[in-house]
Amino acid sequence: MSTQLLHPTSKGVARAAAYLRDGRLVAFPTETVYGLGGDATNDTACAGIFAAKGRPQFNPLIVHVPGIAQARRIAVFSPEAEALASTFWPGPLTLVLPLRPDHGLSPLVSAGLNTVAIRVPAHPLAQDLLRAVGRPVAAPSANPSGWISPTTASHVMAGLSGQIAAILDGKACPVGLESTILSGTAPIRLLRAGGLAREDIEAVLGAPLPEDTTPGKVEAPGQLSSHYAPRVAVRINVQHPSGEAVLIGFGDMDADLNLSRNGNLIEAAANLFGHLHRAEALALQNAKPEIAVAPVPDTGLGRAINDRLHRAAAPRPSGVPGRT
Ligand code: TXA
Ligand code: MG
Repeated sequence: MSTQLLHPTSKGVARAAAYLRDGRLVAFPTETVYGLGGDATNDTACAGIFAAKGRPQFNPLIVHVPGIAQARRIAVFSPEAEALASTFWPGPLTLVLPLRPDHGLSPLVSAGLNTVAIRVPAHPLAQDLLRAVGRPVAAPSANPSGWISPTTASHVMAGLSGQIAAILDGKACPVGLESTILSGTAPIRLLRAGGLAREDIEAVLGAPLPEDTTPGKVEAPGQLSSHYAPRVAVRINVQHPSGEAVLIGFGDMDADLNLSRNGNLIEAAANLFGHLHRAEALALQNAKPEIAVAPVPDTGLGRAINDRLHRAAAPRPSGVPGRT
């Protein structure tokens, strides 16, 4: 199968929607990262997502819908979930909620759990596409399992070319980090830090947001270490880099690449995965043994950035780095 690159026009969106309704797979931009979409009501399409990503079956998928009305047909909203959804949707927030009995989704979406992760993306192309499909679309990040999440169509092409019908080309994703995932029934807990800052969520809840840290329990398997690993060793919080590494800087400093010269965390988040992709390519080209990353402050979006960096730097479980 050769993968078609579709233009971000009404014709491109219509073609992408037709493929999805036909059970085929299409990658599309959201404001966070590119998603690898399939019809969430179609078992074959959902199985195809796992196959294209080479992802372990136990890892459930996020369902994307254009608005809260469509989300209410799939899941049961607590009062807290209603408040969060009405404040932050459309946007970079995913809520894990109990499935309704008549949800209509393929069982593969929830991987046997009785909950579902739902998100309403804000990207205009994602909105147009979801409305045109008229069905919920299951979409993990559009990277092979263990690779860095894609923030451009060419990242998607590099990882999944030949495995999916098409990519809807929507330029670089503005947020650049995956959505923040919350367990949406009281007590609300943070399952994955992401593009929506914890402080903003706490302002709506009127209380501190606890993190889910139950040892051994992996409610959002995206929490696994080494989930975001480049194919080159990564060292973080590097104050004094040696010339042997490709350096990703932060703030006013000399570096091969810089997340944000003026120390802006929003800009840094948007650049994070692109810079990791570029640093990986530079290290492989120039036979440099590692990527070094300067310290990033641990506040606001910095927490999600550091979370992804810790995963990228985690020891790899198997012999082939970054391809679990
Ligand atoms: O920004 C995003 O969230 C992107 C875009 C494409 O929407 N998607 C994304 O999907 O990052 P993915 O599959 O790479 O990460 C979703 C995480 C996974 O770690 C998955 O295990 C978790 O969500 N998840 C999905 N359903 C769940 C559920 N019912 N309970 C707990 N975790 C769940
Ligand atoms: Mg992912």
